[in-house]
Amino acid sequence: MDHEIAAIHYAANRKNLPTGDDMDRLKGKVAIVTGAAQGIGAVYARGLAAEGAAVAVCDVLDATGVASDIVKQGGRAIAGKVDVTDGDSVSRFVQRVIAELGPVDVLVNNAAIFGGLTKKPFYEIATEEWDRVMTVNTRGVLEFSRAVVPGMKARNQGRIINIASATIYSGTPLLLHYVASKGAVLAMTRSMARELGDFGIGVNAIAPGITMSESVRHDYADAQQLLASQMQRRCFKREQLPEDLVGPLVFLASDDSAFVSGQTYIVDGGSTLQ
Ligand SMILES: NC(=O)c1ccc[n+]([C@@H]2O[C@H](COP(=O)([O-])OP(=O)(O)OC[C@H]3O[C@@H](n4cnc5c(N)ncnc54)[C@H](O)[C@@H]3O)[C@@H](O)[C@H]2O)c1
Repeated sequence: MDHEIAAIHYAANRKNLPTGDDMDRLKGKVAIVTGAAQGIGAVYARGLAAEGAAVAVCDVLDATGVASDIVKQGGRAIAGKVDVTDGDSVSRFVQRVIAELGPVDVLVNNAAIFGGLTKKPFYEIATEEWDRVMTVNTRGVLEFSRAVVPGMKARNQGRIINIASATIYSGTPLLLHYVASKGAVLAMTRSMARELGDFGIGVNAIAPGITMSESVRHDYADAQQLLASQMQRRCFKREQLPEDLVGPLVFLASDDSAFVSGQTYIVDGGSTLQ
């Protein structure tokens, strides 16, 4: 199924959801999305803004285009260049967000080394590459979470949403560092939820299936058969689009999920069933 048809199915699936003025489930909230210069992170940022949140986007890439798009649409947004593994830079960015947008209500730990990773047998992964993937994908979650937690604790409220991957359930071969890092994100989500519940902070994860972000379209341009076989395993046999993840994200960011914590929501069109 091509991209346009997938988009039509997506629109059909969402036709009963609120639109326009009804979309204010995050009005008054301030959200940070990491790794949001492009790809799924940019879609998350736009989706949160569409629900009324003020959004701070950051990335090692330039994320100003995403922030200015949101502002042009009438929203509030700022952008920063931040490496999630650099604790000082993360902390400075969080302080800036608080000064310019207000106290942080929602953190989406989306940044990861994913697009551009070359598949290879685990015994051929160089130690440096293993360390870099694990550091960005797991310590990045730690650095950003610990920077926002004091402010959330002080207000006895907050939502942290970690982006894992459905790949951890399927024994995906040839990406052991990535799969291990996302397994760690699931485990971190559970432990963080237990540590932070007494302070009114919910911590949950989203585990997306293979999703047609720019990097996936680029990396899988020659792997149509692989994508087709993955689609056949789904209940909904179509491409997964970044927009498919926005509804679950908004739910986890909003007060609708106030009594939900420590969970990992698999959003993969019903490929992994639990
Ligand atoms: N696309 C998929 O099929 C898929 C499936 C499951 C999970 N995910 C996860 O969803 C998220 C987004 O996926 P995507 O397809 O948009 O990936 P992507 O690789 O296109 O985007 C990741 C973003 O993170 C940024 N980033 C990387 N290292 C960083 C660092 N040190 N500091 C700050 N930013 C950094 C990149 O610049 C990029 O903009 C990732 O966490 C990915 O692991 C994606």
